Amino acid sequence: MERQLSLDFVRVTEAAALAAARWVGRGNKDAADGAAVEAMRAVFDTIHMNGRVVIGEGEMDEAPMLYIGEHLGDNDGPQLDVAVDPLEGTSTAAKGLSGAISVMAIAQKGQLLHAPDMYMDKIAVGPAAKGCIHLDAPIEENLRNVAVALGKEMDDLTVVILDRERHEDMIQRARKCGARIRLLTDGDVSPAAACGLANGGVDLMIGVGGAPEGVLAAVALRCLGGEMQARLWPEDEHDIQRAKDLGIEDVGKLLLMDDLVRDDDVVFVATGITEGLLLPGVTFTPNGAVTHSLLMRGKSGTVRFIEARHRFDKKPRYAFKGAV
Ligand code: FBP
Repeated sequence: MERQLSLDFVRVTEAAALAAARWVGRGNKDAADGAAVEAMRAVFDTIHMNGRVVIGEGEMDEAPMLYIGEHLGDNDGPQLDVAVDPLEGTSTAAKGLSGAISVMAIAQKGQLLHAPDMYMDKIAVGPAAKGCIHLDAPIEENLRNVAVALGKEMDDLTVVILDRERHEDMIQRARKCGARIRLLTDGDVSPAAACGLANGGVDLMIGVGGAPEGVLAAVALRCLGGEMQARLWPEDEHDIQRAKDLGIEDVGKLLLMDDLVRDDDVVFVATGITEGLLLPGVTFTPNGAVTHSLLMRGKSGTVRFIEARHRFDKKPRYAFKGAV
């Protein structure tokens, strides 16, 4: 993938984050999501690529923009598959809580798992603990192995789990082991990616969350040399059929890194909306805003943190005030 495209991709999540940030704390998650989608879509139109949404806002009949299969770019550039989550953490943003980001992953055509919009069981670690986890192992064993791999005492280990009833047993057992648990109300892409960053503050991310988010997290960990294992977690026959419709025959298969993301020629980019584990949020300034983004390329392994100062007098598009 042409590396010059990377900066274009940052402009995409920056635009979505700036638009969604206008809606932070206003209690309207659909409006926040809609603003992010619209802004993201508009920037894609300016990019020299022959892109296709493989993970997006839903099927064509349920999402007006960024639906699965939608074409992105000027039709003329490289053939790329795009996974987008214009607003990861819709409720988080609507409530003004920490951890909302705009995120996407780009890969060569055919290299990303086409994950259906359903649940996925996941476990993720950074490079130092690669090879030491197994999705099917008891939590106690995974914690012990990660602690040994990282050379940490168990009570120095930080584990992120979504705060959900379905995780109650796992949370209690992890606490019994002595690990430090950070329960998040929403958003499991950031903590998975944070596992891969030195000083990311997270050693292990575990639990059931969205399958599309799982693929985004796997791209981040692919760039960082970490590991993720996953398994689709269908709730009913309809979920199973949906997975099969997307070409996943063995719905119960243990998905390893190569199943989630097939090669290293991938880009991960995220921009913070509200401050979180991975990135600071958008700060509005007089007639402008500051954004913080993370840009990573799998091929080179380069990790870039990009602080951008936007001027609304020069970019009137970003001056849009959603709720006014
Ligand atoms: P949205 O951005 O769609 O609101 O998703 C947020 C999120 O917390 C994801 O990060 C996570 O994977 C999933 O929802 C968990 O789903 P649920 O809230 O149903 O447990």
